[in-house]
Amino acid sequence: MEFSIKQSSPDNQRSACLVLGVFEGGQLSPAAHILDQVVNHQLSDLIARGDMTGKAGSTVMLHTLSGVAAERVLLVGMGKPEELNAKQFIDVLRATFAALQKTNCKDAALYLTDLDVQDRDESWKINQIALLAAESAYRCDGLKSKPADKPSLRKILLGCAKKPGNTAQTTLHQASAIAHGMKLAKDLGNLPGNICTPTYLAEQAEKLAEAHKLKVTILEEKDMEKLGMHSLLAVTRGSRQPAKLITLEYRGADKKQKPVVLVGKGLTFDSGGISLKPGAEMDEMKYDMCGAASVLGTMLAIAEMSLKLNVVAVIPSSENMPDGAACRPGDIVKSMAGLTIEILNTDAEGRLILCDALTYAARFEPDTVVDIATLTGACVIALGGVASGLFSNQDQLARELADAGDYSNDKAWHMPLWDEYQQQLDSNFADMQNIGGRPAGSITAACFLSRFTKDYRWAHLDIAGTAWKSGKEKGSTGRPVPLLTQYLINRAQSAT
Ligand code: BES
Ligand code: MN
Ligand code: ZN
Repeated sequence: MEFSIKQSSPDNQRSACLVLGVFEGGQLSPAAHILDQVVNHQLSDLIARGDMTGKAGSTVMLHTLSGVAAERVLLVGMGKPEELNAKQFIDVLRATFAALQKTNCKDAALYLTDLDVQDRDESWKINQIALLAAESAYRCDGLKSKPADKPSLRKILLGCAKKPGNTAQTTLHQASAIAHGMKLAKDLGNLPGNICTPTYLAEQAEKLAEAHKLKVTILEEKDMEKLGMHSLLAVTRGSRQPAKLITLEYRGADKKQKPVVLVGKGLTFDSGGISLKPGAEMDEMKYDMCGAASVLGTMLAIAEMSLKLNVVAVIPSSENMPDGAACRPGDIVKSMAGLTIEILNTDAEGRLILCDALTYAARFEPDTVVDIATLTGACVIALGGVASGLFSNQDQLARELADAGDYSNDKAWHMPLWDEYQQQLDSNFADMQNIGGRPAGSITAACFLSRFTKDYRWAHLDIAGTAWKSGKEKGSTGRPVPLLTQYLINRAQSAT
């Protein structure tokens, strides 16, 4: 999808389709008002007849109005003006792009950025329009023998009453980069486990490095052996696929600036191992690498926007499979940090690969480390598909991430990491066990990770509920690429 923004008047803007807002109660948006005068009040007549009530998300398509340069006009209901908040604006955009995708329009000119949205600025509107346009065009049918026709909508113009400033252009460019990052994350997430293996992920990282001049390093199992990553290695033992530890380095700022390190869980398939998962919906465990996918997507986004920040990606990737070599419940392993772990449930494998990756992350002398993981079913129960679980050993960092999530409509909710929960991980035989029982399952998982992150500022995002959708709409969401990228953009801004 291509995006542009410019000052333009709706009546003489050439386009396959103009998109204009109408409020509940019949009030026209400024752009709709201009057009209404050009077409002899045909828009207000239509509203008076009751065919467009302005209800949020309703749409009416009009064809070939005389005196209008565009081929079509799509009126979209914005709801009540005093109720136009972020959620309502987003709902309206979803309905708009759904309507446009049903047509054969190759381009569209939207006049929506001039509308006032509660607590949101112009950049936010631009960003959301671009992301939702790209989302509406997303298809994942590369593995069907007859892929459906490609969506026709290719170009979006944002028309505004005033000349847009430089920040508007930058925002649009950044939004387009975020959209590309989300697409990469979705594509990788949706690939099945027989194609998207740890080796495949490593190859994708190499491609990304090649295209965007990043430094890439792939550690093999023998390298991990030397580093003492026996916790990670315990997870991969039951699999025929070799594990990989992928690192990508993006240097957009001064060498001396300490990097933000993003650590993404890359379980390309999680069967549970010897603690085998039940059969229902086990296919969805191909999505257990969505943390890794979101880190790769974020690296692509920041590289495309040449962000002035140093960022390192660390991706531990393996499968979790049961075979004769697989680790057993009760096995005790020594992590790279030297702490011993009693593996009581082989299905709590994410924390086992992450703890070694988090220890490894210290080599980059990070300013901040954020890990992203489809870590616990308990997080899905707690927060559903709306918010990711957010944990941190520093409240300020949690606030920055939560704010970035609010702004980018990729919400995360700050959960507690109090010491009182730590005792659930006590083991009779090792320094800790890898499960803490059913109560507070997402918190005890975070507590486990916190034991390996004491030396730096750290946050953990549990994206088990937000990374993909189940059921009829099954598919990867590309989250939390928007949250992570926005956080990094904010960081780069405050650094300068
Ligand atoms: N990848 C799963 C978490 C998961 C489960 C995400 C369902 C999304 C939907 C993780 O490896 C796992 O299996 N966690 C266990 C931990 C338990 C054994 C302590 C879980 O949540 O059931
Ligand atoms: Mn598991
Ligand atoms: Zn898992």
